[in-house]
Order: sequence, then C-alpha cells, then structure tokens
Amino acid sequence: MSVKVIVGAQWGDEGKGKVVDMLAEQSDVVARYQGGANAGHTIIVGDRKYVLHLIPSGILHPHVTCVIGNGVVIDPDALMEEIRLLESFGIEIGGRLKISHKAHLIMPYHKLLDQLQESDQKIGTTGRGIGPSYIDKYNRTGIRIVDLLDRDGLAQKLRRSIEQKNQTFRKVYDAPELDVEKTIAEYVEFDRRIDGYITDTTAYLNEAWRSGQRIVAEGAQGALLDIDHGTYPFVTSSSPTSGGACTGLGLPPTAISEVIGIAKAYCTRVGNGPFPTELVDETGEKLRRLGAEFGATTGRPRRCGWLDLFALRYSAMINGITEIVLTKLDVLSAFEELKVCTGYELDGRPVKYFPSDCSTLDRIRPVYQTLPGWNQELTGVERFEDLPEATRRYVEYIEEVVGARVGYIGIGPEREQVVVRGL
Ligand code: GDP
Ligand code: IMO
Ligand code: MG
Repeated sequence: MSVKVIVGAQWGDEGKGKVVDMLAEQSDVVARYQGGANAGHTIIVGDRKYVLHLIPSGILHPHVTCVIGNGVVIDPDALMEEIRLLESFGIEIGGRLKISHKAHLIMPYHKLLDQLQESDQKIGTTGRGIGPSYIDKYNRTGIRIVDLLDRDGLAQKLRRSIEQKNQTFRKVYDAPELDVEKTIAEYVEFDRRIDGYITDTTAYLNEAWRSGQRIVAEGAQGALLDIDHGTYPFVTSSSPTSGGACTGLGLPPTAISEVIGIAKAYCTRVGNGPFPTELVDETGEKLRRLGAEFGATTGRPRRCGWLDLFALRYSAMINGITEIVLTKLDVLSAFEELKVCTGYELDGRPVKYFPSDCSTLDRIRPVYQTLPGWNQELTGVERFEDLPEATRRYVEYIEEVVGARVGYIGIGPEREQVVVRGL
C-alpha cells in the first residue's frame, strides 16, 4: 500500500476538499502537509456545508485518522474554532486527530505583520499570518508545537519574540504593541487544550505506510502558488506541489504511488498576480456567478477565466500528476462555446515552457482553441459514456494537451456529484 498525494493543479480552490472527502471513504489516514488557515476546503453533505481550514478533509469519515503534518503552520485560534464547530455538528475529533510536534505555530504577531505588510506589498494574501510564520521557521526563530510542552521555556521564547516584534510594530509601522503576558497566557491555555493531540506524526505515518494503511496526503493552495514554481512573488510561502508532501510529512518519495491533480474546468485566482486567461468581462462575471466563485476563507470574489491548459501541462510536469480530477464541469453547461488556452506566444513566437516569472507572463499572449459547448445540464449523469458528446470531447481534449488521464469529473458541489470514469 502506498500514499496518494492530492495537489491543487492551478491557483487553489480547485475542489480539493470535496475530492479528499471522496477518497477518504476508501482510506485510513488523511494528512495535511503544508499551508495553514489560508486554505478553505469545502465539503457539502446534504444541506450541510463544512469549510475546513486546518483539519484534514477526511474528518467527516469516522474511520479515518487525520494528521496535521510538520509542514503546516498552525493558528491556535483557528484550530480551536474549527474543532469546536465540528464537534457542534456531532463529529468526534478526540483520538482521531494527530498534530505533529514539529509543526510551527502562527502567533498573533504573524497575523498582524501579514496585514501590515500588505499595505505596501499588495500580494493580496489571506492575512492569516502564513508568510511571517514561515519566515520565522526558516530564520530558526519560530515556535513549534513541541515548545508548548515546556511551559517555562515557552514563556521565555515568547517573551523574546514578542519584544522583538513589538519593536517592528513601533518603529516601522507606528502600530500598537502586543501585550506580552496576555499572549503567553493564551498559548499556555492552548497547550492545555491540544496536549492530547500532539504526536510524532512522522513516526506514526511511516508505521502506517509500512503496515499497509491507505494514506491520502492533502495539499492546500495550488502548484501555481508554489513558493518555488509559482508566479513569484504572487505565491504562498510554502510548497503545495507534490514534493512538499514528503518534506511536510516526513514520508519518503518512494512511499508515493499516485499524484492526483485537481483542476477546475476553467480557471480562478484570488489575490493579485498574473492570470493570462483572465476574463474581465461579462463571461468572467458569468463564470463567477454560476461557479459561486467567492473565497471560502476570505469571501473575496475570485478572478475567473478560461481553462489554461498550457499552465496545467506545466503543473502536471512539476507535480508528476498521474491522474486528473476535473471539477466544476457543470458550470460550463451554460456556455455556447468554450475557449481553452493551448499555448503562449512571446513576441510572436511560441513559448516552450510555462514562464513562471511575472515580467515574461505580463508580456505573453495566450493562444486559444475554441471548442463547442454542450448546452445541457449534467446533473444526474453517472457514467462518462452518458455525458453529452461535446462534454466528452472537452475532457478528452484536456487529456491530449496535458498528457494525463481524467479519472473523475465533478458535476456539482455535493458529495455524490462525481462521474467516476472506468478504466
Ligand atoms: P479547495 O480549496 O480546493 O478545497 O476548493 P474550495 O472549497 O475553496 O472551492 C471549491 C468550491 O467549488 C466549493 O464551493 C465546492 O463546494 C465547489 N465544488 C467542488 N466541486 C464542484 C463541482 O464539481 N461542481 C460545482 N458546481 N461545484 C463544485
Ligand atoms: P485553498 O487550499 C486560493 C492565495 C492568496 C494570495 C496568495 C498568498 O483553499 O486552495 P497567503 O495568505 O497564503 O500568504 O496568500 O495565495 N491563497 C489562496 N488562493 N486558495 C487557497 O487555498 C489559498 N491560500 C492562499 O489569495 O494570493
Ligand atoms: Mg479553497
């Protein structure tokens, strides 16, 4: 048995939550490997909607153990709120959630700094403190879950960090300082509440893998937001690509057998940065309206555009995608014809590989292929063969250009609204 990695293949919000929930039914463990509460993973079951930010999207299946890996940055407030909300829905968390002792904490000053930095940097972050927390991690000044276990040491570390950050607030931003003692008291209280979940998840996951358990590694964000391979600097501060699953969980590359790339049937992006196929017209509005494209975490309207197959092919390459899950195909049912981007041109010449640097992306011209729409609702379809011919053609065209098979197709937000494509 081995590990399936679920990656967002575009700019996030591809529908990872729904897919992980679906795969979790046949799995034993679901483990989140990077990011933090910047993520918003939606699962819809009946008339109930769950939006998960930190807790893995396997939590709705009582037999699944959920792991928050060492690569994740944890905001105690967000985590406690999420646990409380899930428990209020009758979902049992105790005993099923394991949190890596090596994961880093998001402190109140990280969130403040994130928001203050946005005033001059304008990445369009979620303001959840993600960047500043990863900065401290790589600067080796971060505070980890394991530090919570040593209360005296924790107080000392926190005092040092807060005093140092307070200087920045005062001198650089002319902003109010944080109360040192209040923050210390809050984190001590947090430790009391999460103590039972803290585990050496690296050891746990390796044992689970070796004993043949079925593991799903859940990525957040998407490949084009990757700190190395995305449209830098308009990216997140972690590695959502499949490689991040190994460093973010402590599982070796040899444990991974499948990389499932989740791709929307069109494209969206929240926040700033290049988006070659963006539609800033009525068609874009229509995609936003029909696809209900508003952020699951911040509520911001998502920018919408045609499917970018050139970017998706790049994503398939850097992730090693073995299978695609194509989501939200139902949203395209209302269009007469559909455009897909098959390549970019720069100064009249075709570009060979997706250029992730913004100065080139600003100058490229997307090349489109027009495909017929199907003008027909897809609700209720169960088999690939029963989809309209133009729908099948759209899917097959994606496979040809990207070079990966589409194994599942999303035809609605609900759990069951998936067409599983037989081999
Ligand atoms: P994630 O961050 O990748 O988990 O995606 P989000 O939850 O942020 O956004 C995806 C949105 O699309 C959610 O509101 C889902 O309920 C919804 N969704 C997922 N799959 C489908 C689908 O196949 N069709 C439609 N119409 N909605 C979907
Ligand atoms: P899920 O897991 C879409 C975007 C932000 C911003 C950039 C940096 O739900 O797909 P950050 O707060 O991470 O420093 O913001 O990344 N972003 C997301 N966009 N889906 C997400 O997560 C995102 N998480 C961050 O909008 O452009
Ligand atoms: Mg999301």
